[in-house]
Amino acid sequence: MSADAPTSTAGAARLAGKTAIVTGAARGIGRACATAFAAQGADLVLLDRAEDLPGVPYPLGTASQLAHTVTLCRDLGAAVLPVRADVRDLAALVAAVEQACERFGTVDVLVNNAGIAAPSGKTADEITEDEWSLMIDVDLSGAWRMTKAVGGVMTARRAGSIVNVASTAGLVGYRHFAGYVAAKHGIVGLTRATALDYAPMKVRVNALCPGSVRDDHAVEGRMLSEIARSLDVPVAEHEETFLQAQPMNALIEPEDVAAAAVWLASDESRQVTGSVLTVDGGFTTR
Ligand SMILES: NC(=O)c1ccc[n+]([C@@H]2O[C@H](COP(=O)([O-])OP(=O)(O)OC[C@H]3O[C@@H](n4cnc5c(N)ncnc54)[C@H](O)[C@@H]3O)[C@@H](O)[C@H]2O)c1
Repeated sequence: MSADAPTSTAGAARLAGKTAIVTGAARGIGRACATAFAAQGADLVLLDRAEDLPGVPYPLGTASQLAHTVTLCRDLGAAVLPVRADVRDLAALVAAVEQACERFGTVDVLVNNAGIAAPSGKTADEITEDEWSLMIDVDLSGAWRMTKAVGGVMTARRAGSIVNVASTAGLVGYRHFAGYVAAKHGIVGLTRATALDYAPMKVRVNALCPGSVRDDHAVEGRMLSEIARSLDVPVAEHEETFLQAQPMNALIEPEDVAAAAVWLASDESRQVTGSVLTVDGGFTTR
């Protein structure tokens, strides 16, 4: 075994000593990642817009939901810096990274998780230009902006891990979701290109593609029901459709995604970059 091989992690906090930025941390998968990271010893910058967004036809995370995630993480022993910022605002993201470096010394991990599922539910020709631009701006350009804000910090240190939360929609098409599908395919492309940019500097970039994630009350997730609403299908029927379509016959739990994010963030995955990891119960294997 080489001297710098990952040592056994049995019983050890797998992210001890690391600082991670998680975007979209107020609720849902972002909250699940934040608490999983805190449980593994990371300190956290929890970033969310925490306010509704004109053009998105459902409520986004709130300030009190963000505060609740912060409390959960602090209760797990993490030092936490909450930041209210929109991933469409590069200056605010650069300021957040500066604040993070002042508070924690550096940033080791970025989880690009913030995203919207709608405006959706239309054929490509029915989407307005404003709807298209909003989707791409948040779900694709937001991840690029955050990468731009933090990339220099990581490459200067020759260390870092970026986890881009894409979706099975980054690998296959879904009817009436052209904007979302295009943005998530874009995330996979961004991941591959950035992984090559940063490999010489030992900064890793990977994409995580969850299948349909259950709207768990504990993390106040609501994307599955919003997707069902966009498609004008009852939530129970939408869930049943995905249960049938996911070969393992189960919806994905937010903690399944968080567990994969912990691994990609940790040194256990030190030779993994440019990969596209599905957590989809086999959905895209068919
Ligand atoms: N839930 C699923 O079934 C599922 C499946 C695959 C991929 N994903 C992806 O996982 C990520 C998280 O989804 P979720 O289910 O937790 O959704 P969610 O709506 O519960 O949480 C998303 C969070 O992102 C924040 N956010 C949205 N736009 C923002 C912006 N412009 N700036 C800053 N914060 C913003 C929201 O306030 C919210 O707190 C998304 O990228 C989504 O596309 C979700």
